[in-house]
Amino acid sequence: MPMWAGRFSKDIDERVNDFNSSIKFDARMYRHDIKGSIAHATMLGECGIIDKSESEVIIDGLKGILDDIDNGVLEFDPNAEDIHMFVEAELTKRVGDAGKRLHTARSRNDQVALDIRMYLLDEIKEIREITVKLIHTITDMAKEHLETVMPGYTHLQRAQPITFAHHLMAYANMLLRDIGRLDDTYKRMNQMPLGSGALAGTTYNIDRQRVCELLGFDGITQNSLDGVSDRDFCIELASAISILMMHLSRFSEEIILWCSWEFKFVELDDAYATGSSIMPQKKNPDVTELIRGKTARVYGDLNNLLSMMKNLPLAYNKDMQEDKEAIFDAVDTVKLCINTFIPMLSTMTVIKENMRNAAAKGFINATDCADYLVKKGMPFRDAYKITGTLVARCIELGVTLETLPISEYKKLSDSFDEEVYKAISLDTCVMQRKSAGGPAPESVKAQIEYVLRELDK
Ligand code: ARG
Repeated sequence: MPMWAGRFSKDIDERVNDFNSSIKFDARMYRHDIKGSIAHATMLGECGIIDKSESEVIIDGLKGILDDIDNGVLEFDPNAEDIHMFVEAELTKRVGDAGKRLHTARSRNDQVALDIRMYLLDEIKEIREITVKLIHTITDMAKEHLETVMPGYTHLQRAQPITFAHHLMAYANMLLRDIGRLDDTYKRMNQMPLGSGALAGTTYNIDRQRVCELLGFDGITQNSLDGVSDRDFCIELASAISILMMHLSRFSEEIILWCSWEFKFVELDDAYATGSSIMPQKKNPDVTELIRGKTARVYGDLNNLLSMMKNLPLAYNKDMQEDKEAIFDAVDTVKLCINTFIPMLSTMTVIKENMRNAAAKGFINATDCADYLVKKGMPFRDAYKITGTLVARCIELGVTLETLPISEYKKLSDSFDEEVYKAISLDTCVMQRKSAGGPAPESVKAQIEYVLRELDK
């Protein structure tokens, strides 16, 4: 018999019962549900809304249920409508009439709004923690590669020389902002909605502040309709996770490219790559490809939430039950991806010679050649044009700027002398790019220190 049997003359159709039920996916919030109920029962007892003794019986009963689920003694009933109904029914089964008083001055609407916030606040902490770990993995690698010269690209064409450390630190900064977004989300989510009731608060003299204190929230939601109606905190988290996944996906895409024979900048550890069932020579970067693929899935979760919410009238609507599968999927996916990415990254071999050789080709020092003339007093546009002509001449002769004879340089400008070879050497090009944020080792060292300092805050 459903709990609303008094109003109804028939049992629910079995298909509707299954269709309606969310216990398959909301059971994972059982700890938070029970913790929330314990705080609610404590407050009801303290405010004299139920007897103190009954409040104690309820709390003991709830603690027993929590232990039994934790220890696998109590299993979820797949026929229960949701985790909230399951716990309440189990409580009443165990402690009798007192259990029936737990739901005084509460609705499932504010209960679920509370549970999902509590659950996600814990998840944010975990995602934050592993993202910090990933940043540390990156900074550790960067420290090893301050002088590992590689080509920097625009349009996937070799552009200017950088170092591998410099490239890695770009991702560290992106991830640092991802942490900032998680922190912002956490702050706004940290408002306690219980006491909103179904939508219009309650006539009981409840103490919402007390529940807030017991559960460790920053404050209480300020409007009962809003408290039960919005899921912006889920959307905000899905959005922060989507951006994080986008960063992880770009990093993955680069690793996929770097693993190819065309680049061969890195080699994945055998434990983090897969073979082909037919082509014996293959070593595939499946982990990174899956991260790229799963990013699409998380975007789907975000879109799901946005679309589900966009035309719901206030206050609660059952559509909102769909929030859970979407946000849980986003949270599970990002954790899975980061936790797999970290060991894959830290065991990856960097093939420095190939990076350096690639940087030595492709006229990656052409800007520096132009800058050489500028430093001798020539306007940049003129220097740019002369260097372009030099590059064309090199291509014609099948040489590079480093091996083009000085006579060819001098044909285009008197300002050139032997010094030019030093100015355009790969090492000079990188070492002299000392501007803040640039690739010179001392600049990148400062970037590493900055990121580590920010993480310590
Ligand atoms: N399982 C429901 C959900 O996740 C709980 C809230 C139900 N409220 C209601 N008025 N039917 O949204």
